[in-house]
Amino acid sequence: MKLPGHGRYDYVPITKRPIYDWPEGKRLAVFFCNNIEHFAFGRGLGSDSTGADVAQNQRNYAWAKRLAAIDHVTLDDDVIFAAAYLHDVGSMKGWEVKGQEHGETAAAKLDRMLAGTDFPKAKMDRVREAMRTHMFYREAGPSPEARYLHDADALDNVGTVGLALVLENVDTKEGSRFTSQKAIEVLNKIAPKIEQGAVTPAGKAEMATRIAERKAFLAQLSRETDNFKNF
Ligand SMILES: [Fe+2]
Repeated sequence: MKLPGHGRYDYVPITKRPIYDWPEGKRLAVFFCNNIEHFAFGRGLGSDSTGADVAQNQRNYAWAKRLAAIDHVTLDDDVIFAAAYLHDVGSMKGWEVKGQEHGETAAAKLDRMLAGTDFPKAKMDRVREAMRTHMFYREAGPSPEARYLHDADALDNVGTVGLALVLENVDTKEGSRFTSQKAIEVLNKIAPKIEQGAVTPAGKAEMATRIAERKAFLAQLSRETDNFKNF
């Protein structure tokens, strides 16, 4: 009886296989390696679903909790944790849907993301709501998790962290689309729109602090670079 096979090439026992080597008898080695990594939570660079090599989602989670604590509001930790870490998956390659807002995409695919976990099903709708409304240009959902994630995410684009995120993307190579001038334009034009987005008391107060940081930094940078001409 002939056993079923893949049919792509004939079987040759190892003792009968030809010798593959490079000129002058140099040998060729092929090495297959499986690699499984795991990360301690909150330590080192770890893994961030934004795909960035900075802990943006960790900041969103930490600041949502911090702002809520300042306002004496209790957040459901399951909901805010899942929403803070998964809300940007909708913009990742392989998950994104062209033409669909990435928070909507993430919410629509939450079941897939959490499949096989014991995440409480009764809390999934609240996670979805926080995902859908996390961006500054969307009206924050009514739940406290949605409101504080919304503010934490907006704040991440403002102040010193917002400045760092924009400036680290400056590309000085010729023909670059994101020059230092473009970065200044973004900071002057887009940052003020984001800054209107805070909805919680603690979020609004922190926003005021960060607006002052951005303005002071840009004023100083302008002074030192002849109005950004030499930057
Ligand atoms: Fe986002």
